[in-house]
Amino acid sequence: MRFLLTLFSLISSSAVAATIDIPIETSRTALVLRVDNDGHLVTVHHGKRLQQTAEYARLRGITHLNEGYSEYYNSVYTPAGSRNLLEPAIQATHADGNPSLDLVYVRHETKPAGTGVTLTTILLKDPQYAFEVTLNYKAYQNEDVLESWSTIRHTEKKAVRLQKYASANLYLSAGQYYLTHYHGNWASEVRPEEVQLTAGMKVIDSKLGTRAQMLQAPMFMLSLNQPAQEEQGEVVAGTLAWSGNFQFQFEIDPYHNVRLLAGINPYASEYTLEPGRDFTTPALIYTYSNQGTGGASRSLHRWARNHRIPQGTGDRLTLLNNWEATQFDFDEPKLVDLFKDGKKLGVDLFLLDDGWFGNKFPRNDDKAGLGDWQENKAKLPHGLGYLVQQAEAAGVKFGIWIEPEMVNPKSELYTKHPDWVIKLPNRPDAVFRNQQVLDLSNPKVQDFVYGVVDDLFTKNPKLAYIKWDCNAVIYNAYSSVNQTSHLYVDYVRGLYRVLEKLRAKYPTVPMMLCSGGGARVDYGALKYFTEYWPSDNTSPAERIFIQYNYSAFFPAIASCNHITDWGNFPIKFRTDVAMMGKMGYDIVVSKLDANDLAFSQQALKNYGRLKPVIYQGDLFRLQSPHTNDVGSVMYVSEKQDKAVWFSYLINSRFKAGSDLPPIRLRGLQPGKRYTVQETNLMPGTKSPIDGSVTYSGDFLMTVGLNPAVNDRRTSVVLEISEAL
Ligand code: DGJ
Repeated sequence: MRFLLTLFSLISSSAVAATIDIPIETSRTALVLRVDNDGHLVTVHHGKRLQQTAEYARLRGITHLNEGYSEYYNSVYTPAGSRNLLEPAIQATHADGNPSLDLVYVRHETKPAGTGVTLTTILLKDPQYAFEVTLNYKAYQNEDVLESWSTIRHTEKKAVRLQKYASANLYLSAGQYYLTHYHGNWASEVRPEEVQLTAGMKVIDSKLGTRAQMLQAPMFMLSLNQPAQEEQGEVVAGTLAWSGNFQFQFEIDPYHNVRLLAGINPYASEYTLEPGRDFTTPALIYTYSNQGTGGASRSLHRWARNHRIPQGTGDRLTLLNNWEATQFDFDEPKLVDLFKDGKKLGVDLFLLDDGWFGNKFPRNDDKAGLGDWQENKAKLPHGLGYLVQQAEAAGVKFGIWIEPEMVNPKSELYTKHPDWVIKLPNRPDAVFRNQQVLDLSNPKVQDFVYGVVDDLFTKNPKLAYIKWDCNAVIYNAYSSVNQTSHLYVDYVRGLYRVLEKLRAKYPTVPMMLCSGGGARVDYGALKYFTEYWPSDNTSPAERIFIQYNYSAFFPAIASCNHITDWGNFPIKFRTDVAMMGKMGYDIVVSKLDANDLAFSQQALKNYGRLKPVIYQGDLFRLQSPHTNDVGSVMYVSEKQDKAVWFSYLINSRFKAGSDLPPIRLRGLQPGKRYTVQETNLMPGTKSPIDGSVTYSGDFLMTVGLNPAVNDRRTSVVLEISEAL
């Protein structure tokens, strides 16, 4: 481990006359910043770490000009209003009305911030005003991930208005730049698209308020010099830890370098900052990889498991959900039968979805009841406590769906607290899925939302799981109690405040982050949630792509992959697709025929054996479903003694998948010997793969194996074990 613990340094500008280099390093990467003679902070390197720190002094710096449209194209945090005419990272109007900023270096320090983590803070100040910005960089040594955010502060006489406040302003230099960004909609989330950046600006953003990632996702892969490759080439992968409006801007400057600005979307979000208060931006989380997108994903996965997602290195519960199976139509006896079905199947938990609440306005469809979090007496006369007990008696844990940020106009909550709802006084109410968003910038609403969840746990201490949904966007953005131009920011901060408080009291309960499908998957929210719902589209033919695409940024342990009846696929195919992450079910178990039931029961047992590798292993995307007849991924344990390999037929045309060249495996140890055994076979079927043969890792990675996927074997799961 090359973790530098010699990093504690505190340097002040008065002590040093010439340039100061500030290397922010991880085991394999370095972002090198430089304070030049004028005190401005610029980027001089972002990429592979140099072996000799002293050689950073030789870096030329990229574009410091005497004449141009910006004094510092490579500014680390570009201020607006004075010499810079390109896109700024920060724009502010001072208390006296002056709309310009200059930021010069004051001091920096690097200190340890936990095991294998350093925090570098750099203080910049406007020479004319009592206005300062601290740039923060957390460097995760073993994961090669950086987290960057800024803290803005002033002690001017009156409030300062912030028009823009980016989290990070990166600067990269290459011959060409290929940007992969992700877009979608309900049931078609995170579709990647790669474009070559050309002169000018490419903007990826969201203005939806909540469900920020529905149309565009807050993540990108920027490949240098060539289109992104899976296992080779230089890539910077980044994602904003923010569950609200975001903006990424990629601007090619006149010298053909890329300026990347990432942060909260400044749209309708001017923020008034009072003297003495801090404005802290969310973090951009990013990694540089010279092993292509695969290397970048593995770094982000490791970081997420070790440092971000609750119980990221722990286990997950398998579950049976009732949404696809019953929708709103259930009652106590039906649920009790479903608990027994869950037990018969072999899952850990039953998850009761939408429709269990509301009395004056019963939640029998999505038109009423949201906000009234009391058990519906007609459906559940004995209350939730009884269900928790009955589930326990049947041998499964019990979890529940909530959507506490939202309200149906047809609800007691809305009638009682119309001022808690985000809406404009002089416009007709606008609804999305018949519902509106509560004003989480209002502390009373925060208390209400906290109370909904706290109450559930207080009354039902054995409640074992929460699915937290969020189905509406913010229309008519207006707060009746707070400055409306703060609403988009303070909504998310209010949400995080609630989640922070909940996690303080309930640190270990598993919680699923859901948003009308996968419209809210980000590392801001994933600080509180153990897992996320990638999409309502659970057709395995689609899920192969959706799960594959999310895997660029998020680890398998957090991806809730449920087996449902969407698309009418064989149970084996559905199961094999779900198994590449956190597997669950949303089917009517009693409708499974004997063969399918026996297969599923065995598959759950197999999963129990395989999941440590799927959850904690390194992911290798062997063949993309986007460009191959067979999509293929594998997970390899840290010790390289176990691996699980999934392959799926994508193309159903004649002979697709057959007679393909072998697929080369990755991540194994060349010198070790392995067996390759097929698992998840339907009862009574035999595998064409001879599980008794042993292969060297070298053979498997150089020559490969054909998993024998074809139109009769549309999915294949292979278990690779070190032969002892
Ligand atoms: C949207 C979610 O994505 C679904 O899984 C389900 O929970 C419904 N909402 C319930 O209304």
